[in-house]
Amino acid sequence: MNKITYERAKIYLTERGQEHLLKYYKELSKEERDLLLSDIESVNFNILKNINAKPHKPRGKITPLTSAVSVEAIRRRRIQFEAVGLNILSEGKVAAVLLAGGQGSRLGFDGPKGTFNIGVSRELSIFEQQMDNIRAVTSLSGRCFPLFIMTSSVNNADTVKFFENHNYFGYPRDRVYFYVQDVAPTCDFNGKVFLDSKCRVSLAPNGNGGWYSSLVNSGLGRILEREGIEWLNVYSVDNVLQKICDPVFIGATVLTRCRCGAKVVKKVSPEEKVGVLCLENGRPAIMEYFEMPDELKYKTKKGGLVYGYGVTLNYLFNVHDLNLTLNGRLPYHLAEKAIAHMSNGERVTPSKPCGYKFETLVVDMVNMMGSCLAFEVERECEFAPVKNATGADSVDSARELLRKNGVHL
Ligand code: UTP
Repeated sequence: MNKITYERAKIYLTERGQEHLLKYYKELSKEERDLLLSDIESVNFNILKNINAKPHKPRGKITPLTSAVSVEAIRRRRIQFEAVGLNILSEGKVAAVLLAGGQGSRLGFDGPKGTFNIGVSRELSIFEQQMDNIRAVTSLSGRCFPLFIMTSSVNNADTVKFFENHNYFGYPRDRVYFYVQDVAPTCDFNGKVFLDSKCRVSLAPNGNGGWYSSLVNSGLGRILEREGIEWLNVYSVDNVLQKICDPVFIGATVLTRCRCGAKVVKKVSPEEKVGVLCLENGRPAIMEYFEMPDELKYKTKKGGLVYGYGVTLNYLFNVHDLNLTLNGRLPYHLAEKAIAHMSNGERVTPSKPCGYKFETLVVDMVNMMGSCLAFEVERECEFAPVKNATGADSVDSARELLRKNGVHL
């Protein structure tokens, strides 16, 4: 039962310049009207105020990182880091969060990206490979940590079914928690919210920075509290080689007293399309490749790139600090996209950008935390992202790296 009536919805929308959302109301059935009113009631129209934000806001003063632990430094302190990390893991203070709410449009695969078959002579989904990586850690720590999997309303059912059909890849089923990412309305370039159909408002996942607020909004914050989880290892669905809840990474972040940690790799070239960890006005920040001016991109010192550490989307966040710092303050970024929508009574699917999606980004969380350990990993061993169908960061390059690491495909 909707709390909002047609008359109230009309006033509410008119005040916000969005009354066109009721354009087809008279043509709708009772059920369809209910759906539309319920969408109108639940949409956060305040997000639209971000339409005046610049797509890429000017950055503050960018300087290189002053501290990072290199592969060599990690090798020297490995035993110490690992012991601390394993201890925290065996005390049950760490959980993992898999970001699987993206649309994976660059891969061009119709289905949740994690279900993509990376195998050649056998079936090996991205999910299965990542669950194998998890097993390597749990067999060391002797404890299965909670695994939160963030999906989207589009791919949730298929993702859950895939895990069910594969018996959770041998992981205890009661340690896996799915939740659906929160959404934001989409709109045209003038801020008019799109209709996805005559009775549904067009909504899209609110970006990968939505992982923590969505987790809390879904009610799963109670698991964090109940189990005394102090650290969350957030990772992307793309990278088939990454270590999840890596004890060495956990130990290093804890021992250096950082509020978060980021696994980084040395860039292969100045042009590599990867965000770079740096300082912005003295705080850790990630500068995306498309924002980077040439004088920073090509700057070198002692033969290496000054801004040479690329992020791999594998972060460790302290839960207490997340609660203190975030408080709903993550900025929204405008992403120009081709968005299917209703136009003159027809649903159109444009091939070019026609409006905005509003996205929060995990990289902004790093900046808000105020301190971040850059933890370097060997890319050949830990970085094989599946972003594209072919070329760089593709299925082919990921397969090659998996083989090099002894994975039978
Ligand atoms: P990407 O930035 O690569 O986006 O996501 P994407 O949607 O998966 O792929 P493209 O750009 O359409 O090709 C990085 C990670 O963040 C997750 C993705 O699932 C991936 O693990 N993500 C992204 C979300 O969980 N939610 C989002 O809204 C966006």
